[in-house]
Amino acid sequence: MTESHARTLEARFDVERVRQDFPILQESINGHPLIYLDNAATTHKPQVVIDTISKFYQSQNANIHRGVHTLSQRGTDAYENARTIVQKFINARSPDEIVFTRGTTDSINLVANCLARYLLASGDEVLISESEHHSNIVPWQMICEQFGSNLIVAPINDDGEILVDEFEKRLSSKTKIVSLGHISNALGTINPVTQLTSLAHAAGATVVIDGAQAVAHALVDVQAIGCDFYAFSGHKVFAPTGIGALYGKREILEAMPPYQGGGDMIKEVRFDKTEYNDVPYKFEAGTPHIAGAIGLGAALDYVMSLDFTAAIDYEHELLDYASARLSEIDGVRIIGSAAHKAAVLSFVIDNIHPQDIGLLLDNQGVAVRTGHHCAMPVMQRYGLSGTVRASLSIYNTRSEIDSFIDAVIKAKTMLA
Ligand code: ALA
Repeated sequence: MTESHARTLEARFDVERVRQDFPILQESINGHPLIYLDNAATTHKPQVVIDTISKFYQSQNANIHRGVHTLSQRGTDAYENARTIVQKFINARSPDEIVFTRGTTDSINLVANCLARYLLASGDEVLISESEHHSNIVPWQMICEQFGSNLIVAPINDDGEILVDEFEKRLSSKTKIVSLGHISNALGTINPVTQLTSLAHAAGATVVIDGAQAVAHALVDVQAIGCDFYAFSGHKVFAPTGIGALYGKREILEAMPPYQGGGDMIKEVRFDKTEYNDVPYKFEAGTPHIAGAIGLGAALDYVMSLDFTAAIDYEHELLDYASARLSEIDGVRIIGSAAHKAAVLSFVIDNIHPQDIGLLLDNQGVAVRTGHHCAMPVMQRYGLSGTVRASLSIYNTRSEIDSFIDAVIKAKTMLA
């Protein structure tokens, strides 16, 4: 990045202004200002999200889609408005293509169970990659076991990139479902999901994208990607935990059966036959996380109120800076060096256990995650039991990176 580019970026993206929106960033941890570098695990919430949830419980709380009374109508309107915000955020064609779920894991379990009933048979194949999070592995393993299908894995290279030619070799007429992460939570690799989707479609497969790590770090356009399903969690993009969404192309949502039954997902129930509701309600059995959905709407509105492209550029610049500084430390090895990366810096230090580094960083106010990051096969690929992972967000600063580097050096000296 040139100096003039850096100046233009600073003008477009005022990180100090953004930091003021997140009250928790004022916290002290172990006598130090909080330096929160665990954003891949969960992000913090801006005041507007906290206020929106509080306002819901103060003046809108009622069950939705059920009551004729005013309060129920208020809650229903706010919930359905949130669905439209999600639609706009990921550029779906219609709000009917957005199913509210508990998060990415719930979304993938939903799509795995419903799609399997719709199109999977014994001997068919489900193709994933070696860099997936457990939530994009285990649901498919369970489904394959149940339906007599086979789980096929496309390998990654040493940099953490999916080998496109190897991926293509594994596609065949037997491949019914392809499910891939958009951005790897353990390595930060941004996968070429548009290209991979188009290859999978050419083989006749239905494509699911796990967007858990992408929604806060990339402009997601599901129509441009062309995928059939896109799953994400609210809490990774400044919204509450326990809420997320599954985008699905309308024609597939209409064709596939639901897998959970209960209230709200039906039109008529008789003992001899039940008629299901229209999409997306057919997939939202029971009282949903109403406040969560409204909070998700507020979070995505907040993101859309920023210059998000500038925010992403800013975060990339910060990642480049942190990577350069970290790799200067003797004995540090960065795991994951893809040409296209976002927000994640996984590393190990010779002869030191990641957890020991994590604890010493916490003593200095720096929050990172250590371990396998729910991606054990990725760790196995690199012959590791775990890494230290610093993961960035749009509210982190260069001076926080400097403090993080000082803290790593101090920890390393103490543990050497
Ligand atoms: N999937 C989350 C992470 O990567 C929890 O930390």
